[in-house]
Amino acid sequence: MVLLIGCMPLAAQKQNDNVVQKVQKALAAAQVPTPLQEKILADIKSNPEPFIESVKGVLAQDSYLWKLVDKTHGLDQTYEPEDLITLKNGSYLLNRSGLQLRKEAAQALETMAKAAKVDGVPLVVSSCYRSYDYQKQVYERNVKSMGQAAADRESAKPGHSQHQLGLAVDFGSIDDSFAKTAQSRWLIKNAWRYGWSLSYPEHLEQVTGYRWESWHYRYVGLELSKFIRTYFDDIQQYALAFLYYYAAGQP
Ligand code: DAL
Ligand code: ZN
Repeated sequence: MVLLIGCMPLAAQKQNDNVVQKVQKALAAAQVPTPLQEKILADIKSNPEPFIESVKGVLAQDSYLWKLVDKTHGLDQTYEPEDLITLKNGSYLLNRSGLQLRKEAAQALETMAKAAKVDGVPLVVSSCYRSYDYQKQVYERNVKSMGQAAADRESAKPGHSQHQLGLAVDFGSIDDSFAKTAQSRWLIKNAWRYGWSLSYPEHLEQVTGYRWESWHYRYVGLELSKFIRTYFDDIQQYALAFLYYYAAGQP
């Protein structure tokens, strides 16, 4: 005889409870705000399947696509992606030569830029991969020119920049004026459709560690860009921190 609670067999109910518990723990560890935690948990309590399938899809991707790199989680000094390619002018414009991205990100950038161009919004690419040593120079230059406190609001210490992943792009002017451009408006609306995500949104400095950078997007792959948007109010930091703790709790 199969014991039923509501319409669900007991074994399935227990499995759901375990999954919900695991998600709950990871959300709390990731310091996702309580209302957002409650929204996600309410969503998955009756039917965890879509959320869990989405998580599985994300975790099955190249782990660097969902790797948390922030002020407290860094990359080795020696980490350099193996599949960097040098960008050539494509559907986007390059602000300078020698810009590099990982192959998958470069392809996704081209696809996105093509769509933007069709919409009459040519994208301008200004900064991409930065090695540990190059980031060190950028950070030290910023500290010199604006002081440590101001630099730390917008410049990652070496080993802590998403640019070292070869998956991040700075568009256009790399300053606040970018937010007012058609490029920025287009990216806010459409970047997720191509696997890109805004890393440092407005009003979230306490969460991301950095002031609003309307120009800085990270390629996370389509699975994850949809996941961030569907479950985490489009806030990359929460989703990446959640995945970090969820994956660490894997058996
Ligand atoms: N501007 C971002 C935080 C970086 O330096 O990677
Ligand atoms: Zn950037």
